[in-house]
Amino acid sequence: MYKKPEQRVGGEQVKAWAMWWSLPLAAVLALSACKHEPPFAPIVDETGGGGGGGVEPPDEEVICDPTTIYFQQQVLPLLISNCTVGSGCHATATDDNDDIQLTSYNSLMNSGVIQDGDLWEAINDNDPADRMPRPPQNPLTQQQIDLIGQWIQQGTQNNSCESTACDTTDVTYSGTIVPLVAARCQGCHSGGSPQGGLDLTSWSVLNAVAADGRLAGAIQHLPSFEPMPRNAPRMNDCNIRKFLIWIDAGAPNN
Ligand code: HEC
Repeated sequence: MYKKPEQRVGGEQVKAWAMWWSLPLAAVLALSACKHEPPFAPIVDETGGGGGGGVEPPDEEVICDPTTIYFQQQVLPLLISNCTVGSGCHATATDDNDDIQLTSYNSLMNSGVIQDGDLWEAINDNDPADRMPRPPQNPLTQQQIDLIGQWIQQGTQNNSCESTACDTTDVTYSGTIVPLVAARCQGCHSGGSPQGGLDLTSWSVLNAVAADGRLAGAIQHLPSFEPMPRNAPRMNDCNIRKFLIWIDAGAPNN
């Protein structure tokens, strides 16, 4: 709704002044009002331009305990990537999946599968007919199973720790990108029927989506790209920066 200039600005001074200047003032206000209403949400570049520089270090450095498994950063991304892949999987609670939703701490604990041991049994089952995730998805790696096991042993807390240190000095495909893809993307983007037709465990596929801009667009949640990882929040800035640095370098197989 259009508002009169004096209503928007307020104050007697402006009102009197506006008697003489009402037309130009209205024009100026109308223009400045437009500036606040972009056609879509502005893209906030929190990544320091993708070059790794430009972000002020925070006052206090947060260092996460390397012996603690953090649910939000380590366990939840694995559940989302491996258990919410297709329809009938665990993105929402339905009759088909025994009301088991695995997209947050609360939905996981409400489903009861940690408490009754079902999740642990399912990820360790050797029989493909019973194992989770089901074929054609690959089973979890032993390392991923161990990580979930450790988190259970440590008391199944809803804990979270983001280290404020972001070391981007030595970003490589094998040392940086492969572990990130394994933790955040691989459940959906590998196996017999990878989502979007993209097996991101293959360097050449990842290199191709890096080259055509889809990787950078998807992980930054830019308009007109599918936001990735699906069913999960945007990755933290440090992880996005690492991807962007690798993409900027030509997504090499190093
Ligand atoms: C829960 C499943 C899931 C996870 C986790 C996931 N993806 Fe995807 N991804 C999909 C699906 C489904 C599509 C196809 C989307 C479509 O075309 O509608 C897709 C498409 C994409 C595309 C193409 C996007 C476009 O706009 O064309 C890229 C790039 C991508 N994913 C990268 C990633 C990366 C990188 C990660 C990890 C950081 C990731 N995905 C995690 C399910 C997932």
